[in-house]
Amino acid sequence: MNTIPVITIDGPSGSGKGTIARLLAKKMGWHYLESGALYRVLAYAVIQAKIDLNDVSRLVVLARDLPVKFDSEDESRILWCGYDITDSIHTESCGNLASKIAALPEVRDALLSRQRVFCASPGLVTDGRDMGTVVFPQSKLKIFITADRATRAKRRYMQLKEKGNNVSLENILSELTERDYRDEHRAVSPLKPAQDAILLDTTHLNIEQTFDQVMVFVQEAFGVSV
Ligand code: C5P
Repeated sequence: MNTIPVITIDGPSGSGKGTIARLLAKKMGWHYLESGALYRVLAYAVIQAKIDLNDVSRLVVLARDLPVKFDSEDESRILWCGYDITDSIHTESCGNLASKIAALPEVRDALLSRQRVFCASPGLVTDGRDMGTVVFPQSKLKIFITADRATRAKRRYMQLKEKGNNVSLENILSELTERDYRDEHRAVSPLKPAQDAILLDTTHLNIEQTFDQVMVFVQEAFGVSV
């Protein structure tokens, strides 16, 4: 039996799950897997190679052999054939295309084992949509982070603005609504909390307050020694 501890943080776009998962992995000294990055990198590759989304067998081969690496010094940096493409994949267009690709069961299947290899000593913190339900169902602590849609859109807007992107709040809100719908209604691994997940609504919490609450859950699940 695999006894390596895993903490899964799932939730919709803009809920703050990525920021919290990164902070938590750092605090614990554990590995970090941003599963959404794999779908985003696939979207990036589809754009680069102009692949037709109906060509599922080609997408599956690409998903299996995706030349992507997470920087060993900082696992939130994404390397593609040695180049850092972290900023290029975190755009709204890549996120939207990623969610279309993520609805394909064959692609999800091809990415499953790639995600599971991240479960390595001393532990793993991971974020996504189906980390607690499908990829790491054995996880001892599953957190599902939400926030109302307007708040999430605003957060996403600020994030992209800070990075110097020219974006409109209205567009972000409508893209987020579309993406939420697709992620929640797809046939395979839809976005939903695992039965044993703890729900955390961050609409009225800032990052520090959210992180403090998450640390309470961590201490309850793993004891005070972590
Ligand atoms: O988390 P992020 O917004 O970067 O993910 C981009 C897209 O990838 C999501 O909208 C979702 O469709 C897909 N995804 C997924 N399962 C995951 C992580 C992301 O389907 N575990």
